[in-house]
Amino acid sequence: MQALLRPVDLGALRLRNRIIMAPMTRNRALAGDVPGALAVEYYGARASAGLIVTEGTQPSVHGKGYCRTPGMHSAAQVEAWRTVTEAVHGNGGCMVLQLMHCGRIGSYHNKDPGARTLAPSALRAAGKIFTDEVGPVEFDTPEELTLPEVQAVIAEYAAAARQAQRAGFDGIELHAASGYLPMQFLSSGTNLRRDTYGATLSGRLRFVIECVEALSAVFGSERVGVRICPGNPFNDMHDAQPLETYAALLRALNPLRLAYLHVIRSPDPALDAFALARECFDGARIFNDGFDLASGSDAISSGGAAAVSYARAFIANPDLVERAVNGWPLAAFDRKTLYTRGAAGYTSYPRYTLAPR
Ligand SMILES: Cc1cc2nc3c(=O)[nH]c(=O)nc-3n(C[C@H](O)[C@H](O)[C@H](O)COP(=O)(O)O)c2cc1C
Repeated sequence: MQALLRPVDLGALRLRNRIIMAPMTRNRALAGDVPGALAVEYYGARASAGLIVTEGTQPSVHGKGYCRTPGMHSAAQVEAWRTVTEAVHGNGGCMVLQLMHCGRIGSYHNKDPGARTLAPSALRAAGKIFTDEVGPVEFDTPEELTLPEVQAVIAEYAAAARQAQRAGFDGIELHAASGYLPMQFLSSGTNLRRDTYGATLSGRLRFVIECVEALSAVFGSERVGVRICPGNPFNDMHDAQPLETYAALLRALNPLRLAYLHVIRSPDPALDAFALARECFDGARIFNDGFDLASGSDAISSGGAAAVSYARAFIANPDLVERAVNGWPLAAFDRKTLYTRGAAGYTSYPRYTLAPR
């Protein structure tokens, strides 16, 4: 347990402890895809985490896939996010924005009028997505990005990073997992391009590498992290050789000197993503998925992790770090209110209080 409580620097990010709040989409954004007062309270209450990674946030109107997710492309969004970072910094915390461009995972029902659904190749994902307007619908069939449009998307990431800097964030995380746009470029099943952003393994890596370079040009690479989950089939993903793809990706990322690599356990039992990260990535590694405090501590002491991130444990335990320090029990969360509007299941979970004697 003590290993989790020691401070650590991830690049230029100075963490008070190694218990990180993992990114979680909670679908509470208000009209204009703006985080509201509840988000200020929610994140502010969790500032004792060594680092907070925000919910996935779209860099542009086209990058939005789900309903009620926040953006980082309008002046109103920057102002709203500034109140969030002020609350977290006011409580001594550190916070990075996760940029999530959903690519083909989306529905026009969830997007602004005129916003497009874009992907490396025009392949519709199997499956359905929830919309407020009409309930679950099939994913849009995406338009294939032209070469200039690929470069325009990378420029949107850079513009969003500049906005994040104005909003007071300490850094940026590129969401390259869970079947969203960067993973759609990485994976052989969704990237059928014949140009320099596909065709070969190094072609499939190029979008992610250029995004990281663009984000680093804004924040400095020591404030940029990348999140991956090799071999994850979620959102209808398929890669013929995930081990080969991610080994090559991590080796290509090494010279860029990132703040951290955020690795989610692979659901493929034959693929040990943590071992892969240890072998191929030289910088600080954050491990995630299914850790409790004891196994998280072991991952740091002997597993090659610099820190461990927790998602579900933070939902009902805003004071997860204090509970860890004191050995207090953890509260359970309610699945029914994960993605619903309002305070219930979002800011309604109390801090631990000792029973009166
Ligand atoms: C409600 C919910 C929303 C999530 N949203 C995101 C997200 O926006 N971005 C992301 O990278 N992962 C997201 N995840 C995945 C988590 O960050 C994490 O990888 C996963 O829950 C496993 O970690 P845990 O065992 O500590 O919960 C989400 C998970 C949950 C439960």
